[in-house]
Amino acid sequence: MRNVAGRVEGKVALVTGAASGLGRATAIRLAEEGAKVVVTDWEDKGGNETVELIKNADHEASYMHHDVSSEAEWQAVIAHAEKTYGQLDILVNNAAVIIAKSIKDTSLKDWQWQNSIALDGVFLGVKYGCEAMERSGGGSIINISSIAGIVGLDKSAAYCAAKGGVRLLTKAAAAEFAQLKNNIRVNSVHPGVIRTPGVESTIRKYGGTSKENKVRARFEAMSPLGELGEPTDIANGVLYLASDESKYMHGAELVIDAGYSSIR
Ligand SMILES: NC(=O)c1ccc[n+]([C@@H]2O[C@H](COP(=O)([O-])OP(=O)(O)OC[C@H]3O[C@@H](n4cnc5c(N)ncnc54)[C@H](O)[C@@H]3O)[C@@H](O)[C@H]2O)c1
Repeated sequence: MRNVAGRVEGKVALVTGAASGLGRATAIRLAEEGAKVVVTDWEDKGGNETVELIKNADHEASYMHHDVSSEAEWQAVIAHAEKTYGQLDILVNNAAVIIAKSIKDTSLKDWQWQNSIALDGVFLGVKYGCEAMERSGGGSIINISSIAGIVGLDKSAAYCAAKGGVRLLTKAAAAEFAQLKNNIRVNSVHPGVIRTPGVESTIRKYGGTSKENKVRARFEAMSPLGELGEPTDIANGVLYLASDESKYMHGAELVIDAGYSSIR
C-alpha cells in the first residue's frame, strides 16, 4: 500500500549526488512525500540502488549517469527529466567532493578539481535548472553548501571557497529571479557534520590508522548537541524548502548544524 503524506505530491525533483549519503536520503524523502525523482550521480551502482530503494517502497524514480562538472551532461539530465516526467519543479544541487588539505599542500589542480564539481556543478545546475523550471511555470532550487560556506575551517581552503561560492551564488540567483518574477525560489542548506559515507571516508583518508580516532573526535567536537547528525536531518530541511510550505523563503540559508557555526 502506497503511503504518501504528499508534501511534494505531483512535483518532479532532480537530486544530484544521490548514490550516497545526503543525496540518497533526500531523494528517498522527496519520493516518500509524493515527488517523482530523477536520481543522478557519477557512481552508477549506488545511483541504481537508490532508485531500487525508492521503487521497492512503491514510489517513482529513475536514474541517469551524471558528472555535475559537465555542461553537456547537465543538458542531458534536464532533457531526461522533462522527457520522462514532463517538467522539473525541484532541483537539489547536492553532489560534491572534499579536498581536506592545507593551503600549502593544495595544488592548483586540486583547487580546480574541487571547484569544478562543488561550485561549477552548482552553477550549471542553477543555469539549466532554472530554464527548465521557467518552462514548468516555476520551482524550487536547493543548493547544498556547508558550515564551511559560513565559517573558515583549517585544512579545507578549497572546499570552503567552493561552499562559500555556493552560498553567494544562491543569493545572486535569488536577486535575479526576483527581478525576473519567474516564480523560482532558490535557497542554500548548510549541514554541520552528518554521518555519511563521505564523512566516514574523509576520516579514514585523512586520519590514517593512527590518527583516525583523533579526526573522528574532531568531527564529534563540531557537534554542540553531542552527536553527529543523521542524513534525514538534512533531507527534512530540503523537503521543507522543496515544498510550498516554504513559499516565503528565497535567498535564505538554512543552517542545520547543531549550533556549531553560531556558537563555536
Ligand atoms: N556529510 C556532511 O557532514 C556534510 C556536511 C556539510 C556539507 N555536506 C555536503 O552535502 C553534500 C553531500 O555530502 P555527503 O556527505 O552525502 O557525501 P557523499 O560522498 O556520501 O555523497 C556525495 C555523492 O556525490 C557524488 N559525486 C561526487 N562528485 C560528483 C560529480 N562530479 N558528479 C556527480 N556526482 C558526484 C558521489 O559519487 C556521492 O554519491 C555535499 O555537497 C557535501 O559537501 C556534507
